Amino acid sequence: MCYKTIRPLLFKLSPETAHHLALGSLKALSKLHLYPAFQSQDVSLKKHVMGLDFPNVVGLGAGLDKNGEYLDGLARLGFGFIEIGTVTPKPQEGNPKPRMFRLPKHHALINRMGFNNKGVGYLVGQVKKSQYKGILGINIGKNKITPNEQAIDDYIDCLRQVYQYASYITINISSPNTPGLRHLQFGEELRGLLQAIKNEQQNLSQQYSIYKPVAVKISPDVSHEEIAEMAQCLLDNDIDGVIACNTTLSREAVAQHPRANETGGLSGQPLAMMSTHVITHLAQALQNQIPIIGLGGIETKTDMQAKLDAGASLVQVYTGLIYQGPGLVKQLLS
Ligand SMILES: Cc1cc2nc3c(=O)[nH]c(=O)nc-3n(C[C@H](O)[C@H](O)[C@H](O)COP(=O)(O)O)c2cc1C
Repeated sequence: MCYKTIRPLLFKLSPETAHHLALGSLKALSKLHLYPAFQSQDVSLKKHVMGLDFPNVVGLGAGLDKNGEYLDGLARLGFGFIEIGTVTPKPQEGNPKPRMFRLPKHHALINRMGFNNKGVGYLVGQVKKSQYKGILGINIGKNKITPNEQAIDDYIDCLRQVYQYASYITINISSPNTPGLRHLQFGEELRGLLQAIKNEQQNLSQQYSIYKPVAVKISPDVSHEEIAEMAQCLLDNDIDGVIACNTTLSREAVAQHPRANETGGLSGQPLAMMSTHVITHLAQALQNQIPIIGLGGIETKTDMQAKLDAGASLVQVYTGLIYQGPGLVKQLLS
């Protein structure tokens, strides 16, 4: 059945209920082979980035499958790579519901999920059970109760536990829904965190005889100066990739919407230009020395091309899937 027919029914449900229903259905249909798998055969879409061979440039952004429970179903949508998480060392509930809101007129969402997840151990169990053999990013974060001074311990703990199972690991320091997390993006806090991550990555690469790239995910709510400083820190620490961007705290583009005052991060179309702007400045500062994975409001080929033109090597989608449905990846690639 066409997504345009189903969407009004899904949108009658709360966003979180619709989310679980849609992913649960995808999982069930895929198991029964009732959902046809799409895999682009176009070899011109292949890309070598962060030392990995991506079959195409369109990935799934973190947060849709926080626990790695839907990998096999998601794989059938044709992604060139899938990022799961954010996962934290210990399971946590996240913020009270409701914590996700649709702004359909703007093709946007506001969420304050707060890293609800079942913990890194559970996620690793799910990855082990899955049949997915494609490129897998595992996005890691810190528990809410862990103070920023001990954040490094949480990231190192997660890094150790996921290292063997990930194709690359994303350090998420840009969610607006964990108090203080975004401070880790700047100055000495960033430097200390990246040095510790880099040291541990070296240890793990020796232990497992395989080097796994590490990417850092950043916020769109940053000044040009902050982008330049971050870029220098990423370069100084030989970070393998940067993911731009997470959701925004800005409400400029949706100011009149009745949901505009909900606390949380805004994603989807209103984020598109902001995040492309960050990618442009990041690309200038990084001088092609660190690849960028671009996301924020991608719903059409034109949106995707804007990110690639700004300097991204790969892209990811999230909110676009809610508005365009599971056929989005195919639309972007054909
Ligand atoms: C409901 C929801 C949950 C999210 N959870 C996470 C998360 O756990 N970790 C993360 O790095 N990004 C998370 N994101 C951010 C997305 O991965 C992405 O960076 C952002 O939504 C911008 O892309 P989009 O406009 O295509 O959605 C979440 C986004 C949404 C809408």
